[in-house]
Amino acid sequence: MGTEGIETGPGGIERRVGVGLRLKLFGFLLPLVFLLIVTVTLVVTEVTKFTLRRDLLQRGAAISRVVSLSAGHSLLAKDPLGLDRLVSETRASDPDIAFVSIRDASDIVVAHDRVTERGKPYRPVPPLFPLGTFGDTRADEVVRDGRRLIEYTTPISFAGRRVGIASLGLSMEGLATAQRSIRQRIFAAAAIILVAAFFGTLLLSSFITTPVKRLHQGVLSLASSERFQPVPSHSSDELGALTRNFNRMAETILAQKNSLQKKALQLEESYVSMVRVIAASLDARDPYTMGHSTRVARMSCALGRRLGINEEELSHLERAAIFHDLGKIQTPDDVLLKGERLSRAEEEQMKNHPVDGTEILRMAPFLHRYIPVVRAHHEWYNGEGYPDGIRGDEIPLHAQLIALADAFDAMTTDRPYREALSTQDAIDEILQFRGTQFSPELADAFAKMVREMPPTDETTLKSMAL
Ligand SMILES: [Fe+2]
Repeated sequence: MGTEGIETGPGGIERRVGVGLRLKLFGFLLPLVFLLIVTVTLVVTEVTKFTLRRDLLQRGAAISRVVSLSAGHSLLAKDPLGLDRLVSETRASDPDIAFVSIRDASDIVVAHDRVTERGKPYRPVPPLFPLGTFGDTRADEVVRDGRRLIEYTTPISFAGRRVGIASLGLSMEGLATAQRSIRQRIFAAAAIILVAAFFGTLLLSSFITTPVKRLHQGVLSLASSERFQPVPSHSSDELGALTRNFNRMAETILAQKNSLQKKALQLEESYVSMVRVIAASLDARDPYTMGHSTRVARMSCALGRRLGINEEELSHLERAAIFHDLGKIQTPDDVLLKGERLSRAEEEQMKNHPVDGTEILRMAPFLHRYIPVVRAHHEWYNGEGYPDGIRGDEIPLHAQLIALADAFDAMTTDRPYREALSTQDAIDEILQFRGTQFSPELADAFAKMVREMPPTDETTLKSMAL
C-alpha cells in the first residue's frame, strides 16, 4: 500500500499521482504574498492620510499665526484698510482657505474677506471635536455655513496686550480630495503589484521545483532503465550541488550494477558449463547413449526454430535439452547399463530421473528456470506420462519438443536389446503416438522436418547442426 498521492510501480518505484510540489509551493506562497501586499497597501494608505491631515493642520496653523502677528499693529492703530488688505491677501494665497476673520477685543469683526460680516459680532459655532493646539493657535473641526472646516483661532497681541483674535477657516474638501487621489494611486499600484506577484510566485515556484522535478525524473530513469541520462544542472546553489552529486552517485550505481550483472552472467555460465560436463559424463557412462544429450538438444532446437521460437528461448531450450537426463546420475549402473529389458522395480527406479534432475538443478538459482522442462520431459500429451501425469498444454512446450527428439534419438540408436530403427520407421512410430504420447501438431511438424532432410544421410541427421 503506497502513501497518499503516491503510486508504487514495478520494482517499488514511487510516482506522484496527486498535487505536485510546485502547486503546493505556489498555493502556500501566493496567499502569503497577497496578504503582505494588502497589509502594506492599507498601512501606506493610513500613513499617507495621517501625513496629509497633519500637514494641512500645520499649514493652517502657520497661516493663522502669520495673520495674528501681522494684524496686531493695524488693529491697535485702527487701520481698517491695512486689515482688509491682510485679510484679502491671505484669502487669495491659498485656495483651501474658506474665510479669514479678524475681530477686536470686544469680539466685533473688524476685517473679513466677506464684507457683509464686517462690524458684526463674531458668530461662534460649536466645535465638532478639537484637533489640537499649535503654540497659541487652537484648531477645531466645525461646520460653518454648511461646510466642514478646520477653524483656527489665534489671539492677537501687541506690546504685551491682547488686542483681538484672528480666525481662519480651512476647507476639508481639499484634504478629502487629496486623500482620495492618493488612495486611488496606491490601490492602482497595489493591483499592478498583485498581478506581478502572482506571476512572480508562479515563476519562483517553478524555479525552486524544476531542479527537484529533474532529480525525480533522474531517479525514475535510474531505477527503470539501463541507460542513465545525467540530470542537467547549471546553478551553483545547494540544488545544483545536489544534482551533480546525484549524477555521480547514479553513475557509480550503474557501473556497479553492470559489473554485478556481468559477474552474475559469468557465474551462470560457469554453472551451465559444469552441468554440461556432468551431462556429457553421464552420456559417456553408457556407450549406447554417448552424445545423446547433445543430439537431443540439436534436434529439439531445430524443431523449435522451425516453429518460430526466438533465439533467447532457443538458448534456454538447448540448455534444458542438455540437462534433461541429468537425474540419471543417481540411477545405479546395474540399472542404467543393464543389457536386457528392465524389471518393473528397475523401471520405477529409472522413472525417478526427471525428479532427481530437478533436485540437482534446484541447487543453483541460475538453473531454476530449467526445472519445469526437465521434470516434464517424460509427460505424455494424454496425461499418461510421469512424474506428474499432466496433459496437453499443461506440459511446457520445451519439454514436448525435447520428448520428441529424445524418443527419435533413442529409437534411431542401437540398444543392447534391439537394433536401431531406420529414420522412416522412427517417424512412423512417432506418428503412431500422435495424440497419445505427443501433441499431434508437434509430431507432424517433427516428422515433416525429418522427412525434409536428405533421406540417406541418417548419420548427418544425428549429428546435424539444424
Ligand atoms: Fe529422460
